[in-house]
Amino acid sequence: MEKTLVILKPCTIQRGLIGEIISRFEKKGLILCGMKMTWLTDDLLSEHYAHLREKSFFQRVKDAMAVCPVIVCCWKGVDAVQVVRTLAGATNGRNAAPGTIRGDYSMSVQENIVHASDSLETAEIELKRFFNEDELFDYKMNYFPSLYANDEF
Ligand code: TYD
Repeated sequence: MEKTLVILKPCTIQRGLIGEIISRFEKKGLILCGMKMTWLTDDLLSEHYAHLREKSFFQRVKDAMAVCPVIVCCWKGVDAVQVVRTLAGATNGRNAAPGTIRGDYSMSVQENIVHASDSLETAEIELKRFFNEDELFDYKMNYFPSLYANDEF
Protein backbone atom coordinates (compact mmCIF):
# COMPACT_ATOMS: atom_id res chain seq x y z
CA MET A 1 0.00 0.00 0.00
CA GLU A 2 1.33 3.47 -0.86
CA LYS A 3 1.95 6.40 1.45
CA THR A 4 1.93 9.98 0.25
CA LEU A 5 2.51 13.46 1.63
CA VAL A 6 -0.06 16.23 1.75
CA ILE A 7 0.65 19.74 3.04
CA LEU A 8 -2.24 22.00 3.97
CA LYS A 9 -0.82 25.33 2.84
CA PRO A 10 -0.95 28.59 4.84
CA CYS A 11 -3.93 29.77 2.72
CA THR A 12 -5.89 26.77 4.03
CA ILE A 13 -5.03 27.51 7.64
CA GLN A 14 -5.83 31.24 7.19
CA ARG A 15 -9.19 30.50 5.57
CA GLY A 16 -10.30 28.07 8.26
CA LEU A 17 -10.49 25.10 5.89
CA ILE A 18 -8.37 22.58 7.81
CA GLY A 19 -11.27 20.34 8.82
CA GLU A 20 -12.93 20.52 5.41
CA ILE A 21 -9.79 19.45 3.58
CA ILE A 22 -8.79 16.69 6.03
CA SER A 23 -12.30 15.30 5.78
CA ARG A 24 -12.04 15.03 1.96
CA PHE A 25 -9.16 12.59 2.31
CA GLU A 26 -10.72 10.81 5.26
CA LYS A 27 -14.09 10.31 3.57
CA LYS A 28 -12.39 8.97 0.45
CA GLY A 29 -11.06 6.09 2.54
CA LEU A 30 -7.44 7.11 2.84
CA ILE A 31 -5.84 6.22 6.16
CA LEU A 32 -4.09 8.91 8.19
CA CYS A 33 -0.60 7.73 9.21
CA GLY A 34 0.74 10.99 10.64
CA MET A 35 -0.12 14.67 11.00
CA LYS A 36 1.57 17.67 12.57
CA MET A 37 1.69 21.46 12.47
CA THR A 38 5.05 22.95 11.57
CA TRP A 39 6.44 26.30 10.45
CA LEU A 40 8.52 25.68 7.32
CA THR A 41 11.91 27.34 6.98
CA ASP A 42 13.23 28.93 3.80
CA ASP A 43 15.98 26.28 3.64
CA LEU A 44 13.50 23.42 3.81
CA LEU A 45 11.28 25.12 1.22
CA SER A 46 14.27 25.61 -1.10
CA GLU A 47 14.84 21.86 -0.95
CA HIS A 48 11.15 21.05 -1.35
CA TYR A 49 10.66 23.37 -4.33
CA ALA A 50 14.12 22.79 -5.90
CA HIS A 51 12.44 21.84 -9.20
CA LEU A 52 11.18 25.46 -9.41
CA ARG A 53 14.46 27.21 -8.49
CA GLU A 54 14.95 28.73 -11.96
CA LYS A 55 11.40 30.14 -12.04
CA SER A 56 10.71 33.83 -11.44
CA PHE A 57 8.12 32.92 -8.79
CA PHE A 58 10.44 30.67 -6.73
CA GLN A 59 10.89 33.09 -3.80
CA ARG A 60 7.23 34.18 -3.93
CA VAL A 61 6.04 30.57 -3.64
CA LYS A 62 8.42 29.90 -0.73
CA ASP A 63 7.34 33.07 1.07
CA ALA A 64 3.67 32.10 0.69
CA MET A 65 4.43 28.75 2.33
CA ALA A 66 5.97 30.50 5.34
CA VAL A 67 3.20 33.01 6.09
CA CYS A 68 2.11 30.84 9.03
CA PRO A 69 2.51 27.18 10.10
CA VAL A 70 1.30 24.47 7.75
CA ILE A 71 -0.15 21.04 8.47
CA VAL A 72 1.73 18.10 7.02
CA CYS A 73 -0.04 14.75 6.74
CA CYS A 74 0.73 11.28 5.53
CA TRP A 75 -2.12 9.35 3.89
CA LYS A 76 -2.06 5.65 3.04
CA GLY A 77 -4.06 3.58 0.57
CA VAL A 78 -3.94 1.51 -2.61
CA ASP A 79 -2.53 3.84 -5.32
CA ALA A 80 -2.61 6.63 -2.73
CA VAL A 81 -0.23 8.93 -4.64
CA GLN A 82 -2.43 9.12 -7.73
CA VAL A 83 -5.68 9.08 -5.75
CA VAL A 84 -4.54 12.11 -3.73
CA ARG A 85 -3.31 13.98 -6.84
CA THR A 86 -6.70 13.37 -8.47
CA LEU A 87 -8.53 14.61 -5.37
CA ALA A 88 -6.28 17.74 -5.31
CA GLY A 89 -6.94 18.64 -8.96
CA ALA A 90 -5.00 20.80 -11.42
CA THR A 91 -2.34 23.17 -10.05
CA ASN A 92 -4.25 26.30 -11.07
CA GLY A 93 -7.40 26.47 -8.94
CA ARG A 94 -9.19 28.40 -11.66
CA ASN A 95 -8.71 25.49 -14.09
CA ALA A 96 -9.20 22.68 -11.59
CA ALA A 97 -12.33 20.61 -12.10
CA PRO A 98 -15.29 21.15 -9.78
CA GLY A 99 -15.36 18.39 -7.20
CA THR A 100 -11.59 18.49 -6.74
CA ILE A 101 -10.16 20.26 -3.71
CA ARG A 102 -8.53 23.02 -5.75
CA GLY A 103 -11.55 23.23 -8.03
CA ASP A 104 -13.87 23.73 -5.07
CA TYR A 105 -11.76 25.96 -2.83
CA SER A 106 -9.16 27.86 -4.88
CA MET A 107 -9.06 30.78 -7.33
CA SER A 108 -5.27 30.80 -7.61
CA VAL A 109 -2.19 28.97 -8.88
CA GLN A 110 -0.17 29.75 -5.79
CA GLU A 111 -2.89 29.78 -3.13
CA ASN A 112 -4.07 26.32 -4.14
CA ILE A 113 -4.87 24.77 -0.75
CA VAL A 114 -2.68 21.66 -0.77
CA HIS A 115 0.64 20.25 -1.83
CA ALA A 116 0.48 16.59 -2.86
CA SER A 117 3.43 14.36 -3.83
CA ASP A 118 3.48 13.77 -7.59
CA SER A 119 4.98 10.25 -7.74
CA LEU A 120 5.73 7.32 -5.46
CA GLU A 121 9.44 8.15 -5.60
CA THR A 122 8.78 11.79 -4.66
CA ALA A 123 6.39 10.73 -1.89
CA GLU A 124 9.11 8.62 -0.24
CA ILE A 125 11.58 11.51 -0.38
CA GLU A 126 9.03 14.08 0.81
CA LEU A 127 7.77 11.95 3.71
CA LYS A 128 11.36 11.64 4.95
CA ARG A 129 11.79 15.40 4.50
CA PHE A 130 8.82 16.31 6.70
CA PHE A 131 8.46 13.42 9.17
CA ASN A 132 10.74 11.58 11.57
CA GLU A 133 10.23 7.80 11.51
CA ASP A 134 8.53 7.80 14.93
CA GLU A 135 5.93 10.33 13.74
CA LEU A 136 4.40 7.91 11.22
CA PHE A 137 2.10 5.11 12.40
CA ASP A 138 0.93 1.81 10.96
CA TYR A 139 -2.15 0.49 12.70
CA LYS A 140 -5.04 -1.84 11.99
CA MET A 141 -8.21 -0.35 10.53
CA ASN A 142 -11.21 -2.55 11.31
CA TYR A 143 -13.21 -1.25 8.37
CA PHE A 144 -10.72 -2.49 5.76
CA PRO A 145 -13.11 -5.07 4.27
CA SER A 146 -15.57 -2.22 3.67
CA LEU A 147 -12.94 -0.26 1.71
CA TYR A 148 -11.38 -2.90 -0.54
CA ALA A 149 -11.97 -6.35 -1.98
CA ASN A 150 -9.57 -8.85 -0.39
CA ASP A 151 -7.45 -9.05 -3.59
CA GLU A 152 -7.06 -5.27 -3.91
CA PHE A 153 -4.51 -4.74 -1.15
P1 TYD B 1 4.16 22.47 -9.13
O1 TYD B 1 5.06 21.47 -8.44
O2 TYD B 1 4.40 22.74 -10.59
O3 TYD B 1 2.60 22.09 -8.99
P2 TYD B 1 1.80 21.09 -8.02
O4 TYD B 1 1.71 21.78 -6.66
O5 TYD B 1 0.43 20.95 -8.65
O6 TYD B 1 2.56 19.79 -7.96
O7 TYD B 1 4.28 23.86 -8.39
C1 TYD B 1 4.43 23.92 -6.99
C2 TYD B 1 3.68 25.13 -6.48
O8 TYD B 1 4.23 26.31 -7.02
C3 TYD B 1 2.21 25.14 -6.89
O9 TYD B 1 1.40 24.36 -6.03
C4 TYD B 1 1.89 26.60 -6.82
C5 TYD B 1 3.20 27.28 -7.20
N1 TYD B 1 3.20 27.74 -8.62
C6 TYD B 1 2.99 29.09 -8.89
O10 TYD B 1 2.78 29.90 -7.99
N2 TYD B 1 2.99 29.50 -10.20
C7 TYD B 1 3.20 28.64 -11.23
O11 TYD B 1 3.19 29.08 -12.42
C8 TYD B 1 3.41 27.25 -10.95
C9 TYD B 1 3.63 26.25 -12.05
C10 TYD B 1 3.41 26.85 -9.62
